[in-house]
Amino acid sequence: MRPHPRIIGYLTRALEHELNAVQQYQTRAALTELWGLPDLAAHYRQEAIEELAHAERLTRQLLLLGVAPTALALTAVRPGRDPQEMAALSAEMERAAVHLYDDACQFCQRIRDQEHWTLFQGLLNEELAHFQQYQAAATGNAP
Ligand SMILES: [Fe+2]
Ligand SMILES: [Fe+2]
Repeated sequence: MRPHPRIIGYLTRALEHELNAVQQYQTRAALTELWGLPDLAAHYRQEAIEELAHAERLTRQLLLLGVAPTALALTAVRPGRDPQEMAALSAEMERAAVHLYDDACQFCQRIRDQEHWTLFQGLLNEELAHFQQYQAAATGNAP
C-alpha cells in the first residue's frame, strides 16, 4: 500500500537529521581525539555509528517504498569549544530529533499507519535516551 505523502516527507526529513547527526558526532569524535580525550572520542565515535544505523533503517524503508533516499540538506557543523558545550549542542540536536519523531508518531496515529508508527516510535525512544544523556552531561549531572 502506498503511504501517505507526508510519511515520505517524515522519512526524508529523518534521513537528513540522521546523516547530519553522523557528521556532527564524527566531527566531535575527531576533535576530542585532538584534545587528548580518547574516552570521549570513543563515545562520540560510537554515537556516530548509532546514528548511521538509524540512517540505514530509514534508507531501507524509503527503498522499500520505491523512493530514492536522498538527503539534500546537511547543516553546518557546530562542534563546540569544550566538552560541556559539545554536550549542550548534542542535547539541542537530540531534542530536535525527539520533536521530529514525536510529530511523525502523532501523524501516524492520526492516519492509522501502524508500520511507520512502529519505525518512528523505535527511533523516538532511542533519541529520547540520547537527549537525556546529553542534557545530564551539559548540566554537570552525568553519571
Ligand atoms: Fe538518530
Ligand atoms: Fe541521536
